[in-house]
Amino acid sequence: MNSGIEQFLALVKERRTSRGYLDKPVSREAIISILEAARWAPSAANTQPWEFIVISDPEIKIRIQQAFLNEAREHEDQRYRKVSEQQATLLLKPVLIAVCGRPASRERYVNTKELADRSQDELYLLSMGAMIQNMLLAATASGLDSTWIARLARIPQVAEILQLEKDLELVAFVAIGNSSQKLAASDGRRAPVLQRTYFNCYGKLY
Ligand SMILES: Cc1cc2nc3c(=O)[nH]c(=O)nc-3n(C[C@H](O)[C@H](O)[C@H](O)COP(=O)(O)O)c2cc1C
Repeated sequence: MNSGIEQFLALVKERRTSRGYLDKPVSREAIISILEAARWAPSAANTQPWEFIVISDPEIKIRIQQAFLNEAREHEDQRYRKVSEQQATLLLKPVLIAVCGRPASRERYVNTKELADRSQDELYLLSMGAMIQNMLLAATASGLDSTWIARLARIPQVAEILQLEKDLELVAFVAIGNSSQKLAASDGRRAPVLQRTYFNCYGKLY
């Protein structure tokens, strides 16, 4: 039997970004567990600045995909268009979770008035990031695969399709499903941690 930390590290390494999905349904129960993991994430001043839209309606997904492709076609950069077209193929089969944030939550930090806008933005977005990582790990622990999709959230038309209320903004999308190309944990390219870690002061090896 593995120790707790070995099991945890195995889960962390097993999580990989899926680039394509099978047409296989994901249960509501699994989605609720993933959202429960999100709920328990840390957030600055415990603001919990998030709300979610779970999208499984094929018509809505097609509209989101179209908005994504339209935005990509307006770009001059050919690489951007190519990557977007590849990404668009993964939007229809998984459940899409639109991860929404409430920017006004920044007013609830203990020292908001003293904080520069940039620091407030950091606290808000770092809280969102910590929560999203909980979602991804919960998906892996549920035997599912996931993709963190940033680009979709920046397209105003997507917010319109989802009828987002004006005090909320899209921060990211998380696709949840069964990957069509299972990536092994060992395929993830990562720099060795001791190349990035120092002891007591920067530059002294740990
Ligand atoms: C903030 C953030 C934004 C990301 N946006 C996208 C995205 O728009 N599309 C995508 O396919 N992957 C996206 N990813 C996934 C990364 O490309 C992926 O995590 C990285 O290449 C490492 O691969 P791995 O997750 O399989 O270990 C994003 C990840 C993060 C943390």
